[in-house]
Amino acid sequence: MISIAVVDDERTARQMMANIFHRAGYNVEMFDSGHAFLPQMEKEPFDIVFLDLKLTDMSGLEILTHIKATHRDTEVIIVTGNSSIDTAVEATKEGAFHYLAKPFRAHDLRLMAQRATEKIRLHRENVHLKSQLGDHSLIPGFIGNSKAMQAIFETIAKVAQINCNILLEAETGTGKQLTARAIHELGGQPKAPFVYFNCGGFAEDLICSELFGYEKGAFTGAVGQKIGLLESAAGGTVLLDEIGEMPMSMQVKLLHVLQERQILRVGGTRPIDLNIRIIAATNRDLKERVGKDEFREDLYYRLNVVTIRLPRLRERRDDIPLLIHHFITKANKAFSKNIRGVSSQTLQLLMEYGFPGNVRELENIIQHAVALTEAGKLTPEDLPPRLRKLHLQENWAGEELLTLEEMEKRYIARVLIKTGYNIKAAGRILQIPRTTLWRRMKKYGLKAPAEG
Ligand SMILES: Nc1ncnc2c1ncn2[C@@H]1O[C@H](COP(=O)(O)OP(=O)(O)OP(=O)(O)O)[C@@H](O)[C@H]1O
Ligand SMILES: [Mg+2]
Repeated sequence: MISIAVVDDERTARQMMANIFHRAGYNVEMFDSGHAFLPQMEKEPFDIVFLDLKLTDMSGLEILTHIKATHRDTEVIIVTGNSSIDTAVEATKEGAFHYLAKPFRAHDLRLMAQRATEKIRLHRENVHLKSQLGDHSLIPGFIGNSKAMQAIFETIAKVAQINCNILLEAETGTGKQLTARAIHELGGQPKAPFVYFNCGGFAEDLICSELFGYEKGAFTGAVGQKIGLLESAAGGTVLLDEIGEMPMSMQVKLLHVLQERQILRVGGTRPIDLNIRIIAATNRDLKERVGKDEFREDLYYRLNVVTIRLPRLRERRDDIPLLIHHFITKANKAFSKNIRGVSSQTLQLLMEYGFPGNVRELENIIQHAVALTEAGKLTPEDLPPRLRKLHLQENWAGEELLTLEEMEKRYIARVLIKTGYNIKAAGRILQIPRTTLWRRMKKYGLKAPAEG
C-alpha cells in the first residue's frame, strides 16, 4: 500500500487532503510542522509527500532538499498559494514531482497522487525486473524465469560440459539459435569458432562444398582450395539449422562425418580429423519425418544424443514481462528513445496473445512499437492490429446484441488468437473436431495472420 504524508500548517487544508487520500485508499498521516514530520520520515519513509511551501517553522524547500537527499525515491508534491507559484516551479527543479496551487479540487489531488503512485510502481517494477534479470539469465540476453525455461537452462548448463551432439527441436522464434550459442559459450571453449549453416533451400552440391570445402580443380570453377565450414569450426561448434530440410543424399554424407569424425574436401583424398560439436536444429517434428521416410533414421539417432525441446512462448507466459522489459531496453538503445515500459492494458494484451512467432514475434512487436510511438509508455495503439483485435474481442459479449452466428465467429476468432492459431488446441477448447473447425474458419474468413 502506498503511504502519503500531508504536511501543512493550515488545519482545514490538511484535513481535507487527508480525507480525500484516505477515501482513495491510501495510508495517510498528517503533520502540522517540519519538526513533527522529519523524524517520522526518518523512522519510516513515506512514498508520497504533499508538502506546503510555507510552514511556520521551516520552509518547504528546506524540507524538500532534506527528503531528496535521504530518500530519493519519495515523490514530493508542493502545495502552495497562488502568490508563491514561482517558488513552487523552482521546487520542481530541485526534484519535486509536481506542484498544486491552492485552492485545489479533490479531483486534482487524486490525479496527482495517482500519477506519483504510477511513477513509484514503475520504478519498483524496474528494480525488481533488474534484479531478476541479473539473477536468472543463463548468458547475457538469454532470458527465462519461468519454470520451463529454468529447467532448459539447467539442461543446457549440463550438456555444455560434455562433448555430444545435440538436437534442438522447437517452433520458430523460440530461441534455438540462442540456445546453441549458450551451449557453445558455456562449453569451456568460448573463444573457439561458432559456425552457423542453414541447410534449407540449397542443392546438394552447394551444401557439400560449403560444409566440406574443396580442392583446387575439384570441379569447373574451383579455381583455388576452399576450407569448408566444418573444418573452419575446429575446436568449436557448428549449428546446422533446418536440418530437416537437408536432402536425403546429403544426409548420408553427414552421417558418415558424424561416425568417422573426419571429412574429405570435395575432390580431396586425405581425410581431415574433426574436433567439433554439432548442434542440429529444426522446427519440424523430425521423428515424424523419419516415419515418412523423409529423414534417415540412423542420422536421426546420431544427432539426437540429447534432444532439447524449447517451450512455446504461450506455454511460459510468466516470461513475457521480463522479455518486454529486455526488448524495450534494447530498442531504446537502438533508436535513442526513452520508453519507460508498457501501460497495464498493453501488458494485458501481450499476456493474452498466442504468439505463433514466439519470442521473435514479441521482439518485432516491441521494436516497431518503440520506434513509432509518440508516448512515453507503449499503449495498445502501438501494437499491431492483430493484437488490438484481441482487445476488441474481449468485449465480444458486451453491450452490443449479436446474432448467434456473429457471436460464434467472434468467439472462434478469440480462441484462435489465444492459442496462436493452433488448430489442435483450439479444437480441444471448443470441443469440436478439427475438420469442423476448418470449415467454420473458412466460412467466417478466419485466417492466421502473417507472421512478423
Ligand atoms: N529467451 C530469450 N531471451 C531473449 N531473447 C530471446 C529469447 N528467445 C529468443 N530470443 C530472441 O528472439 C529472436 C529469435 O530467436 P532465435 O533466432 O534464437 O530463434 P530460433 O528458434 O532459432 O528461430 P527460427 O526457428 O525462426 O530460426 C532472436 O532475436 C533472439 O535474440
Ligand atoms: Mg534460428
